Amino acid sequence: MLAFSNTLEEELLAADTMVIGAPMHNFAISALLKAWIDQVVRGGRTVLFNPNGPQGPLAGKKELVITSRGGSYRAGTPTAQYDYQEPYLRHIMAFVGLTDATFIHAENQKPGAWRILAGSSDGSNSRGCGRANRSGRLAVTANQNGWRQIAGKQEPRFHRK
Ligand SMILES: Cc1cc2nc3c(=O)[nH]c(=O)nc-3n(C[C@H](O)[C@H](O)[C@H](O)COP(=O)(O)O)c2cc1C
Repeated sequence: MLAFSNTLEEELLAADTMVIGAPMHNFAISALLKAWIDQVVRGGRTVLFNPNGPQGPLAGKKELVITSRGGSYRAGTPTAQYDYQEPYLRHIMAFVGLTDATFIHAENQKPGAWRILAGSSDGSNSRGCGRANRSGRLAVTANQNGWRQIAGKQEPRFHRK
């Protein structure tokens, strides 16, 4: 177990830039990515602090995170509050000193409930939860999951923060 963890940690130590592919699963990261994080975030090894902040061996490296999401959670939209993926990744990576992070989000990748929640203009295949009107805006009424009305504009598929 520790040998595997050490191997993953060595990969990170050898890298200048870390590239992470992260599908959104249930508003957060996938179980697989969480399992990897649990192997590489290790007290006394990658997690080292002094009063000035994180001092671990990964501090100062760059990080590029490319997410894919069924819906859209852009800042300033009603659904931004449901994004537990980017805030969590920023937090846990900062914990090991990776504060230089760029996120690129590939959004609106799946029709259905996620796009409805995200206010996509394409309400097709919406499982009866809502539909787009002619102006391209979406009106969602209460559905079986308890979501209330969300009106949104069509979002670009990609955006960068
Ligand atoms: C188990 C599971 C949970 C998902 N949860 C969400 C979600 O909470 N929000 C969302 O926008 N999309 C969600 N999706 C859609 C994925 O984020 C979307 O398909 C994304 O492109 C991931 O790529 P993948 O399907 O190849 O894993 C989920 C997909 C799966 C399989």
